[in-house]
Amino acid sequence: MCGIIGIVGTKPVAERLIESLKRLEYRGYDSAGIAAQVDGKLVRRRAPGKLRELEAVVAADPLIAETGIGHTRWATHGAPTERNAHPHIAGRVAVVHNGIIENFAELKAELIAKGRVFSSDTDTEVVAHLIDEALNDGLDPQAAFKATLDKLRGAYALAVLVGGEREVIMGARNGPPLAVGYGDGEMFIGSDGLALGPFTNRVAYLEDGDYVIIDHNSAKIFDEAGLPAERPIKTLAAASAVMEKGNYRHFMEKEIHDQPEGCQRTIAAYVDTLSDRTAVPGGIDFAKLERIQIVGCGTAYIAGLIGKYLIEQLADLPVDVEIASEFRYREPALNSATLAIAMSQSGETADTLAALRYCQAKGMRSAGVLNTVESTIGREVDVVWPIHCGPEIGVASTKAFTAQVAVLTAVAVAAAHARGKIDGDEEKRLVRVLLEAPRLMAESIKLEEAVKAVAVEVAKARDVLYLGRGPMYPLALEGALKLKEISYIHAEGYAAGELKHGPIALVDEQTPIVILAPFDSYFEKSASNMSEVMARGGQVVFITDPDGERHAPAGARVVVTAPRCDPLIAPLVMSAPIQLLAYYVAVQKGADVDQPRNLAKSVTVE
Ligand code: G6P
Repeated sequence: MCGIIGIVGTKPVAERLIESLKRLEYRGYDSAGIAAQVDGKLVRRRAPGKLRELEAVVAADPLIAETGIGHTRWATHGAPTERNAHPHIAGRVAVVHNGIIENFAELKAELIAKGRVFSSDTDTEVVAHLIDEALNDGLDPQAAFKATLDKLRGAYALAVLVGGEREVIMGARNGPPLAVGYGDGEMFIGSDGLALGPFTNRVAYLEDGDYVIIDHNSAKIFDEAGLPAERPIKTLAAASAVMEKGNYRHFMEKEIHDQPEGCQRTIAAYVDTLSDRTAVPGGIDFAKLERIQIVGCGTAYIAGLIGKYLIEQLADLPVDVEIASEFRYREPALNSATLAIAMSQSGETADTLAALRYCQAKGMRSAGVLNTVESTIGREVDVVWPIHCGPEIGVASTKAFTAQVAVLTAVAVAAAHARGKIDGDEEKRLVRVLLEAPRLMAESIKLEEAVKAVAVEVAKARDVLYLGRGPMYPLALEGALKLKEISYIHAEGYAAGELKHGPIALVDEQTPIVILAPFDSYFEKSASNMSEVMARGGQVVFITDPDGERHAPAGARVVVTAPRCDPLIAPLVMSAPIQLLAYYVAVQKGADVDQPRNLAKSVTVE
């Protein structure tokens, strides 16, 4: 999704804007631009494609200023061309925007009727024209901005430069996040703390309906009613953390390898290693719960599905998991003895946030399984369950996924004990199993070379099927999602038992079938599905463990043998092979692994 940065600074701004935009690249974008005032006039540089294209434009035609705004655009209204790239300028006003102005068509028609000429296909350009109109009507910049905000419907984070107001930037938030950074004689606004990281780690977050005016030394924040508001300034530990790939080619590859260490941090926060008991923060009384409702999107939703298998089986506590975009509109029946769990790496996904708010309106308590704790969901839930895996940059989620699963695994064990479904000894045994997960995940990552060899073959396929039973079913969904996200190969995940109800029709010599089947209680059934596939000429990639390898029907084209583990942590241990498979297929195909086409890391509009 679009990224925003604004700097009222004392140093050359163009390089700083681009440096910050690079830290927002992970969100996904398809064009970029910057604007500043030079000799009293608004000037911009824009380019379709990656930031290197914008850098080339700026190198050829430098933009010399110390205050400016910048943007990475993820196209919604209008193709990713230079003319649609932000900033948009109308008269004295330059605007960058993240979100969607839902009533832009009617506003645009009114503006055109007044003689305004538009130079892009975007919804954003109306904002620049509206502010400029208001300035022409004699309002001062702040009043013109507020008058404009009052006309907008939809979701937005905005940063605005007004010609003549040399050292001031205005910002507003309604939906997508906007942070204010406090520097030394300099001030900043940006989409998140990471964007501000190179300049400051002192950050305040605007609330919905807020707008802000920053100059060199201050931020004046106003709430929706236009009244002055205070938003706490926080010191972010990780804000200036350098996002380096180290020796890896891609962030995704690095993040796959980061997982054992990341999960170790996660698990350490949810168990007491002295007593080997669970220690889930937040004081939720699992014994009193009647139900859990998990909501999320994409990979976070799939992590929730794995949680359902574990929590229901261990704790005998009913769990519903639903895609947030469906849940929020279908008026689900809920009761207040249900705990809502919002799963979200970013904590900003618009549909997940709306689903959470729906649950809260029903009087439910809520928890957020989040990577970005300083996020909108983080601020709105009753209990934050951080996943502690560090910033995730690759658009295709990997380490956040396993860390989310690790949190829900600890929750399942804690709930089982609280509800009297397991005794203290069994809780201790399961905690010790959980503590073994990082080591076994590291073993599993060592399958990299074997998986790389499989990837060469899978990269030739047009379609790939992933099958699994039990918790391996959601993992099959995740494997298929990862593959299609970054390699653009069509892939489907299915419950293996559904094979005969449809997907078996797709089986032929050209279609690889990835079967996820550790040697657990489902193994025999998965093995017979494997035989059914092979009997029809299907090419099986069998991902199992040493016992599964021994008992597998002969004939699997490739067997990938992950380490043996307790079923509790099998989803964690079996994740790396499917992530590595997607990764190496994408590399084999020369795809842009960290920024796959059309995808955004943080989906702040619905
Ligand atoms: C996007 C990302 C996915 C992510 C999903 C939910 O689609 O590309 O990787 O799983 O959003 O994001 P969240 O931040 O809520 O986990």
